Amino acid sequence: MKKIYASFMGVMLVVLTSFVMAQEHKTQVLVLIHSDHGGTYELAKEIVKGVERSGKVQAVVKLVKKSPDPKLIGLAVATVEELPNYDGIAFGSPVYFGNISTGMSEFLAKTVDLWSKHALEGIPATVFMSAGSGAGKELALQSFWNTLAVHGMILVPTGIQGNDKIDKSIPQGNTVLGTTSLASLPNTQRPSKSERYLAELQGMNFAKVASGLVGIRNGKTLNEIGKITDLDNEQSVNNRLKEKHIVLPKVPQPAGNYQPYVRAGNLVFINQVALKDGKIFKPGKLGMEVSEQEVKEATEITMLNVLSVLNDAVGGDLNRVKRCVQLTGIFNTEDRYSKHADLMNVASNLAVTIFGDNGKHARATFGASSLPINSSVEIQAIFEID
Ligand SMILES: Cc1cc2nc3c(=O)[nH]c(=O)nc-3n(C[C@H](O)[C@H](O)[C@H](O)COP(=O)(O)O)c2cc1C
Repeated sequence: MKKIYASFMGVMLVVLTSFVMAQEHKTQVLVLIHSDHGGTYELAKEIVKGVERSGKVQAVVKLVKKSPDPKLIGLAVATVEELPNYDGIAFGSPVYFGNISTGMSEFLAKTVDLWSKHALEGIPATVFMSAGSGAGKELALQSFWNTLAVHGMILVPTGIQGNDKIDKSIPQGNTVLGTTSLASLPNTQRPSKSERYLAELQGMNFAKVASGLVGIRNGKTLNEIGKITDLDNEQSVNNRLKEKHIVLPKVPQPAGNYQPYVRAGNLVFINQVALKDGKIFKPGKLGMEVSEQEVKEATEITMLNVLSVLNDAVGGDLNRVKRCVQLTGIFNTEDRYSKHADLMNVASNLAVTIFGDNGKHARATFGASSLPINSSVEIQAIFEID
């Protein structure tokens, strides 16, 4: 009996785990509304239907503030802080004088913190509204867009989708920005059948965008996945190279059966010596054939070779370099020499000059009794790229 019970519990655990995992993989859409009399909520329900139609996306309706209307009483109130947790947000409110409602406006005014943290950037958004006569409905939808655009959300319009299927014998709330409902027009139930259809279609298409972007965003904002930081870097890396008059040499060709670099996962491994124009720059042993100053110059040449190979590894886009992980400097020195760190600083400084904080790395230096082709220096480098 005990055995049967244990097996049953085991099976239940597997089923439960699979269920939880399946739940975790679903794209989550928030339908965030303000509604005084339920018109916006009626459209919201159609949006949810559309969002969930594929079975792969889940939607939840939440209010921006509590409503006394009995139709809305059971709905949860959203917090500002939870917004970045969703893969997409469909915003709905009544039209107030060609604008979003004050309830929605007050809620959005509380999102300044999210704004300064770029927390909503890259999250798709779509909008829908309940109007009275429909006066200023496009203006109102547009005013929603103003705020959401400032947040950097990806705005998903409706265009003319579904317009060929709606009943044109009565006025409808179709617009190119989002669905509306003309709630105060007499002699028809609102939202009309066509308005409900448009809202469902809007939800369906929004779900496609939201789930499509999840693959790219992987639950993170654009800022978190580094797109915006990359753009900053793009300017700074290029600017730094130009400002410092740093010109990368041609990629030195391998002198044996090996590659100029190897990529393993996101790490790139590079080893270079002081080759310049096909010859070793100032070859020899420090203290015997070459001076410290000459070895420092050779170190700069070697590091530029490393960067040139790295540039090749990232397809000419050094902005793809996430960080310099480790540099190892090997110097051709006499046994008693001990100022390897001074020599290697030339290479380390170059990495930081080009990549800023991302150029800071772990480091090792040591002396060798000889180096290939009598180079005074060899640098081994590891970079992380995207
Ligand atoms: C302050 C205020 C301003 C309004 N301005 C407009 C307007 O400019 N255009 C319009 O069509 N309806 C306007 N309405 C009507 C509402 O948009 C309409 O009643 C809507 O259906 C309410 O949505 P709800 O049922 O979700 O509360 C206004 C209503 C209020 C209270």
